Amino acid sequence: MCGIFAYLNHLVEKDRRFIVTTLLNGLARLEYRGYDSAGIAINGDKDDQILTYKHVGKVSALRQKVAADTRLDLDHAFMTHTGVAHTRWATHGQPSQVNAHPQRSDPHSEFIVVHNGIITNFKELRAVLEKKGYVFESETDTECIAKLTKYLFDSQKGGKPLTFSALVKAVIKELEGAFAIIVKSVHFPNEIVATRRGSPLLVGVKTDKKLKVDFVDVEFANETPDKLAEDEANLLSPTDPQHPTIRRSQSRAFLSEDGLPQPMEYFIASDPSAIVEHTKRVLYLEDDDIGHIAEGELHIHRMRRDDGMSSIRSIQTLEMEIAEIMKGSFDHFMQKEIYEQPESVVNTMRGRINFDTRTVSLGGLRAYLPAIRRCRRIVFIACGSSFNACLATRAIFEELTEIPVNVELASDFLDRRTPIFRDDVCVFVSQSGETIDAIQALRYCNDRGALTVGVTNTVGSSISRETKCGIHINAGPEIGVASTKAYTSQYIGLILVALQLSEDRISMAQRRFDIIDDLAKLPLYIKETLALDQELKALAKHLLIKEKSLLIMGRGYQHAACLEGALKIKEVSYMHSEGILAGELKHGPLALVDEAMPVILIMTRDSLYPKVQAALRQVAARKARPIILCNQGDAAIADTDTVIRVPQLVDCLQGLVTVIPLQLMAYHLAVLHGVDVDFPRNGMPLAEMLTVE
Ligand code: F6R
Repeated sequence: MCGIFAYLNHLVEKDRRFIVTTLLNGLARLEYRGYDSAGIAINGDKDDQILTYKHVGKVSALRQKVAADTRLDLDHAFMTHTGVAHTRWATHGQPSQVNAHPQRSDPHSEFIVVHNGIITNFKELRAVLEKKGYVFESETDTECIAKLTKYLFDSQKGGKPLTFSALVKAVIKELEGAFAIIVKSVHFPNEIVATRRGSPLLVGVKTDKKLKVDFVDVEFANETPDKLAEDEANLLSPTDPQHPTIRRSQSRAFLSEDGLPQPMEYFIASDPSAIVEHTKRVLYLEDDDIGHIAEGELHIHRMRRDDGMSSIRSIQTLEMEIAEIMKGSFDHFMQKEIYEQPESVVNTMRGRINFDTRTVSLGGLRAYLPAIRRCRRIVFIACGSSFNACLATRAIFEELTEIPVNVELASDFLDRRTPIFRDDVCVFVSQSGETIDAIQALRYCNDRGALTVGVTNTVGSSISRETKCGIHINAGPEIGVASTKAYTSQYIGLILVALQLSEDRISMAQRRFDIIDDLAKLPLYIKETLALDQELKALAKHLLIKEKSLLIMGRGYQHAACLEGALKIKEVSYMHSEGILAGELKHGPLALVDEAMPVILIMTRDSLYPKVQAALRQVAARKARPIILCNQGDAAIADTDTVIRVPQLVDCLQGLVTVIPLQLMAYHLAVLHGVDVDFPRNGMPLAEMLTVE
């Protein structure tokens, strides 16, 4: 699973050095999506030649490989050129040179494909193609796309030859599964086709001239002349300020105001982070859109006009800043993202909470609030850290709304084919908005007529598009594999939803005010907690580094922090760690506790404090010497113990602060263990579960 990138320049002279560097830099930005192998394909010196470079390992290894090819003329200049690139996270087939992308149709590379996703019917397609004499060289599902393209190209019988987009349209008709694909061919030099279904893909547009329009109109294969005329009339409507008066066909070309041929550069990527350094003007492709760039013009084709789908793809401005995807002065993205939390939590709340009137307003939910309030239950559905964020907020959600809340792991929810009804509200929480289990669960709930709500960090993601309503957590891009700032922002996002839903409940007014008042203090309290960094580093170094295992215990609101902390520690430091509900200690886990087992006990001042004290006694009775994570000023905990003190917040928000020392601990343990923190082994990259079940 992977990141894909392509670059096309038209009427702008670029040498091969620039093109190769652009492709490799694009890949480096996407590396967090997969890092077991990488590849690029560029034009040869002649039109019928494609040069491909692939390498196992990270993009830096590929960079060296390209640099080492002394035959490659880097000064060779092109007025128009198309290059494609890929960084892989293996799903079908081992990480190896032959399985790396681009995949080719044949030894001459007539068609080459980079692909993000999974083709679920690839075995059937492969069997058919093998019968037709195609010899496969890799174990990937992607190779069958390249070979199928060649097969359909070669099968044309006279008549008007297929255009590149029509050819790819015929290919994707045969594909099942989820994909984002970019295709390059010697038969269509200087053209490129990009298409998607279930995996994100966007096109960055760069030109020095001012464009006459800021949209591309979609061309439908089944369009009747009447429909076209109607569309044309709509577009020509002078009353619609969104759509300037312009001929339909002109909008495809991004004509410059002076009407002259337009020098253009296009950047296609699975993720905006590969585009933002070149241009902030992007256009998101929809499922089954076929984006075709030829003669410098971007056309978007579809098989048919789907109900409710816009026939315009507007150029949008990326909100992202280049600094957000750079490490800056930090050693790792994970560290940077942990440190960004004082700002990212503010961004989640910005414009949504009025701290003076103590009110919350979520525009993305407003129209659906009555329906949500009427529902018979709420089901939170998520994976990994996002699931932990759901667990962390379930109790306050139930308390404020008085609606029962179930929390489901998306994979298990699907495995059980959980009954879902029309009067259920299903909330999908996902940083990427592209996790396949969550997407499938969402489609399952949509099919059953439930009201679906998205809580995501990725504008334009599948979950945000396919849910009926929702909120964006606005945490900013999360590049580190381990989720940190997205977790705290998801947590806050869910609290905001609960606050909004309960706004008319008088009996909850004081509780709501307490929460809103403490949300105002949160950024400062996170900053204070981050100041413990060196202390935590020392703990990791002196107490934990040699240990094989670490138990993290707590109960009530702190249970989710225990699970999240343990997940972070095992994910990035490879140390076994388990989050344990302290109330369950005597039902088995206590057997693990002795003087040799390191334990972190979260013991913050809430209604369960006496019960956690009991857990401390049980642990101490087994001679364990726990590290106690407690509130500042808690005099009952002696400084002779190993103590981490964090600021105190209202019970349901306390987990936003207790999780931070655990994130830092995970980070330091990983660094001390020599792990490449942003690229842990077997670590399914965060933006990544995209299409892997
Ligand atoms: C752990 C982690 C993962 C993700 C999970 C869900 O650090 O990052 O457990 O939380 O894969 O991903 P999203 O939230 O993108 O659906």
